[in-house]
Amino acid sequence: MGNDLSGKKVAFLGAGKMGSIILQALLKNGLLSAKSTVATVAHQERAKAQSAKLKVKVGTNNAEAVKGADIIVIGVKPQVVEEVVREISSQITPKQIIISVAASVPTSMIEKHLPTNVPVIRAMPNTPCQLGAGMTAICKGKHAGPNHLAIASRLFDVVGRTVIVDEKHMDAVTALSASGPAYIYIILESLAEGGVKVGLPRDVATLLAAQTAFGAARVVLETGDHPALLKDAVTTPAGCTIDAIMELEEGKLRVTLIKAVVKAAQRAKELAFG
Ligand SMILES: NC(=O)c1ccc[n+]([C@@H]2O[C@H](COP(=O)([O-])OP(=O)(O)OC[C@H]3O[C@@H](n4cnc5c(N)ncnc54)[C@H](OP(=O)(O)O)[C@@H]3O)[C@@H](O)[C@H]2O)c1
Repeated sequence: MGNDLSGKKVAFLGAGKMGSIILQALLKNGLLSAKSTVATVAHQERAKAQSAKLKVKVGTNNAEAVKGADIIVIGVKPQVVEEVVREISSQITPKQIIISVAASVPTSMIEKHLPTNVPVIRAMPNTPCQLGAGMTAICKGKHAGPNHLAIASRLFDVVGRTVIVDEKHMDAVTALSASGPAYIYIILESLAEGGVKVGLPRDVATLLAAQTAFGAARVVLETGDHPALLKDAVTTPAGCTIDAIMELEEGKLRVTLIKAVVKAAQRAKELAFG
């Protein structure tokens, strides 16, 4: 299978929040056509609503949906993955590729319920995918190769950046980039409160905080410079920033963030299915 998505038939099993974000982005960018895309949900009335919204065929029969599909994206909740894989198993061949976005579901669990040699890719996207600013990590299962990773990369590149990792790192990815938007929102909310405390209107404070975070993140991504170096460039000797940094150090911001990621990774490991 070439890694060009055009002409590929794709079935999205579980077109909920995350499934719909990816499906809509692929259609909008012309990487998939509505004609060659199908989706499923659990409830008949949701199928009707999603079909009207997504402008593709949406049903409730997973086994039917995967017939003739080149790529099958599993977007159901983690606890439903096994049931869905069992339903489609008899229709699946090694010529197809399964891409699962379910958190804490190892590729081995999916492979266990499929015929032998079916390529499985596991992906962990995050919510900023809805604006094309997502971060997705992907890893391959036992029977997937570089070509399957390339197909998955092309798919997730339409909703942001994609990185390929070994599966052993997926809990760490969950803890950093999948849960990460929540940490950043807390930081933004707190910075905005700081702005309000020193007299800024709340909307201005929120804009300043969010655009500053966006700009700082862009500089890191585009220059490749180490964040510590970039921080030093803002910190004038005996200026204002160093006083703020002393407060952050006293408040143990760094170690708190490090410990937050460690805790979330431990929890992701505990939650692993299968
Ligand atoms: N949201 C995130 O930030 C995020 C990030 C990374 C990974 N993920 C992963 O993405 C997956 C989906 O999360 P979500 O937030 O998109 O959940 P969601 O909005 O609840 O979507 C789940 C969808 O699965 C459908 N469904 C349930 N059982 C089904 C079945 N047997 N066959 C076919 N469809 C079925 C549901 O249909 P109905 O609408 O009819 O109930 C719903 O549309 C999860 O595994 C999660 O770990 C989510």
